[in-house]
Amino acid sequence: MSTVATHPSYDELCANFDWAIAERELGVTRSGRINIGWHCSDRICELGLASKPALIWENFSGTGRTYTFDDLRALSNTIAVYLADLGLQPGERICLFMDRVPDLYIGFLGILKMGGIAQPLFSAFGGDSLWTRLADARTSAILTQRKHVGKVRKIREKLPELRHIVVVDAGEAPLQEREVAMALDELPRVERLDVYPSTSETPSVLHYTSGTTGQPKGAQHVHYSIVSQYLTAKWVLDLQPDDIYWCNADPGWVTGTSYGIIGPWANGTTQVVLDSGFSTERWYAFIDKHRVTVWYSAPTAIRLLMRDGTKVARKYALTSLRHLCSVGEPLNAEAVIWSQEAFGLPFHDTFWQTETGCIVVTNFPGMPIKPGSMGKPFPGITATVLNPKTNEPYDRPGPVGLIALRPGWPSMIRSYWNNPTGYASKFKNGWYLCGDRASIDPDGYFWFVGRDDDVINTGGHLVGPFEIESALLEHPAVAESAAVAKPDPVNMEVVKAFVTLKPGFEGGPDLELEIMNFVRNKLSPLAMPQEIEFVPSLPKTRSGKIVRRILRAKEWGEPVGDTSTLMDE
Ligand code: PRX
Repeated sequence: MSTVATHPSYDELCANFDWAIAERELGVTRSGRINIGWHCSDRICELGLASKPALIWENFSGTGRTYTFDDLRALSNTIAVYLADLGLQPGERICLFMDRVPDLYIGFLGILKMGGIAQPLFSAFGGDSLWTRLADARTSAILTQRKHVGKVRKIREKLPELRHIVVVDAGEAPLQEREVAMALDELPRVERLDVYPSTSETPSVLHYTSGTTGQPKGAQHVHYSIVSQYLTAKWVLDLQPDDIYWCNADPGWVTGTSYGIIGPWANGTTQVVLDSGFSTERWYAFIDKHRVTVWYSAPTAIRLLMRDGTKVARKYALTSLRHLCSVGEPLNAEAVIWSQEAFGLPFHDTFWQTETGCIVVTNFPGMPIKPGSMGKPFPGITATVLNPKTNEPYDRPGPVGLIALRPGWPSMIRSYWNNPTGYASKFKNGWYLCGDRASIDPDGYFWFVGRDDDVINTGGHLVGPFEIESALLEHPAVAESAAVAKPDPVNMEVVKAFVTLKPGFEGGPDLELEIMNFVRNKLSPLAMPQEIEFVPSLPKTRSGKIVRRILRAKEWGEPVGDTSTLMDE
């Protein structure tokens, strides 16, 4: 079976494109009221789909529960009222720090319905990663689970503005200072709610993304983003009324909110969620059981599936699948060819970022795929590559340059939280620079080359070297450190750390392991260096800045480039 796009062709859509198409279909205007929480639940009920399953949820042991759009509507009302009753005000940041349990998805909509700003964070984060992001956002409340509350307890003294720690599964467990238990099933179901009257520019979601220097940046989205997320989900993911859609991304990552909550539910699509880590057989069994039709995944996962071979895929009935998409890192040509072999369908690459809020370059359904290419700009997105010397688009196809987008599409972030200068620095000559390099071929297809900075892309997740280096420096043995990307067959990149030791410490496997675990507990498993090399000194500029580019080049077997500004050269 092949992917069938039921909408007009890419070229026709480009020729007649206007974001007003999405506004009309959603029933919103730029100057009117828009609330993502309401649009993803109440409005779908008003369209006659109240009893349609919205969320089919399953955990690692196979226990499951289904929520209809009417459940989503009433239960998100219930959470909105609960949070408002705690005294939380519109505009306050409310963090979601949970595994992929239903309260996470329903809580996200509930926060938006009471006018709060939803701040989703990975539940795998350790205390330091959590603290950095809560302190920067001056978060007022956090919704979490019993199994994660210990990490919050350890840092709450350093967070005077965190007034409420809401535990969604507290049961009979004793609670501590500032903690409250919220048992959603036991609260009176709120059928009617005056949803907060947000408008297009009202802040909605705050997603933290990693940068090269300084702490992670809070990418600040607004309610109008739904216009882009709705239409890209409909056209690129090709969502149809009867689809069973699976996005295996965690909402701690923008993919898990833009296309794991907002885009599909704004379309009234039934979603399945598996709250469990990766396992080839478990994933195939899940697709088979729920008859998944559209699947949004990532190259790392696809590479793991490839490693297990097509034979495993044949053990399951995967014929329900009709459209596959991928995001987060370059999708290698082999992965596209392999998926054709394993599922009879190619994966369609989609390129975008936390900052763009929606897919901006993609292998659009129905458009011929060139394996290894990201495809072409979504209709309504003006994308190009700039000559890095002039910041002007090249006048011919071919050369590698900086991926740049003309600002103004609905889901672009409006700023970085507390950091307007950092946001302003992303623009050159009226273009927004993604921080990536690519070339465009004569047919207008984009070919990804690599990132333009030191940010490490491990399995689709960006990890900033500064955060890792800061954690390393807190270890008593570490004098100086540099974290760089090292190539990896499954995760594309992993973190490698170069470390100089303080006098009296000796490098060796025991110390390496100890430092690795130290970083893992403070930050997250993703940020943990997979290798630590103990070195006598680190390459630095004359002004004392560590030059990661040189260390990185050695890992990749690339030329080290210009070293004229180095201290020791
Ligand atoms: O470097 C690009 C890479 O991921 C970065 C954005 O990461 P993040 O903000 O975490 O959002 C990821 C999910 C939307 C990009 O600047 N990236 C994302 N998609 C692709 C990609 N690199 C190559 N090909 C892609 N399809």
